Amino acid sequence: MTEYGYRRSLEPAGLDLTRDRVDVWATRLDFDPQRVKHLAGLLSPDEQARAARFRFAVHRRRFIVARGVLRTLLGRYTNAAPESVRLKYSPAGKPSPDPDHGLRFNLSHSHELALYAIAYEREVGVDLEYMRPLEDIERLAAGTFSARENAVWRQLPDAQKQEGFFNCWTRKEAYIKALGQGLSYPLDQFDVSLKPGEPARLLSVTGTPQEVTRWTFQAFNPGENYVAALVVEGQGWYMRRWQYDDPFKDVRRA
Ligand SMILES: CC(C)(COP(=O)(O)OP(=O)(O)OC[C@H]1O[C@@H](n2cnc3c(N)ncnc32)[C@H](O)[C@@H]1OP(=O)(O)O)[C@@H](O)C(=O)NCCC(=O)NCCS
Repeated sequence: MTEYGYRRSLEPAGLDLTRDRVDVWATRLDFDPQRVKHLAGLLSPDEQARAARFRFAVHRRRFIVARGVLRTLLGRYTNAAPESVRLKYSPAGKPSPDPDHGLRFNLSHSHELALYAIAYEREVGVDLEYMRPLEDIERLAAGTFSARENAVWRQLPDAQKQEGFFNCWTRKEAYIKALGQGLSYPLDQFDVSLKPGEPARLLSVTGTPQEVTRWTFQAFNPGENYVAALVVEGQGWYMRRWQYDDPFKDVRRA
């Protein structure tokens, strides 16, 4: 294990998954131009068109790397060439492999880091945020958190407000991403834990109390100044964290 809990070594051959394991991969997005060019060549025509629409090169590069690494990872789990991986999208835009063969994934990117949660026969959501100072933090909390979350957040000492804010934000976002509904889901209709040092939990969901036991939350620290949350359907799984980095390109598919 290295700093932030990642395994740096790579499994020698194709990756496999069992129902009791959720793999979380992290990659930096600031690859050198040659690697970016290679990854761009793995994208589908619609992804290349999307990449071309970014106004700023930095955003284009981050998208290309995030999608290229996604394809490389999915290719290793399904024993397929990265460029041949096909994705389908839910009505709210959540991507999944097509056909999925039970494989589920979700990804999140923020600043120069991306995270991928990959599971078998369990729905997953992951969210990552770069902890930057927010000038309008009070207004953002009031506008996005539930009444109960706001009450807890306002009671935090000033020194914990930023971390508490991003705890809440990533847990809410990971939950709606696990559901696949995106922002069509009302953010004020469920409560998550947010106090620094307390375990990540779904506390209540208006109208569907059984949701609280349907999902397991896990928060982790993916890197300096980053906060992340993982939401997985059901219990009885453990998270395995991997660092995707350059040596990976030399690992041939089995
Ligand atoms: C699109 C959304 C699902 C996530 O957006 P985000 O937090 O800005 O971005 P992230 O990097 O975490 O996630 C984006 C990825 O989620 C995936 N995604 C897209 N729609 C999704 C959906 N409906 N459900 C789950 N995952 C989805 C995609 O892979 C996307 O990346 P890609 O398009 O580059 O492949 C949506 O929740 C959103 O727009 N959020 C805006 C932020 C906000 O106001 N949050 C309030 C939280 S309290």
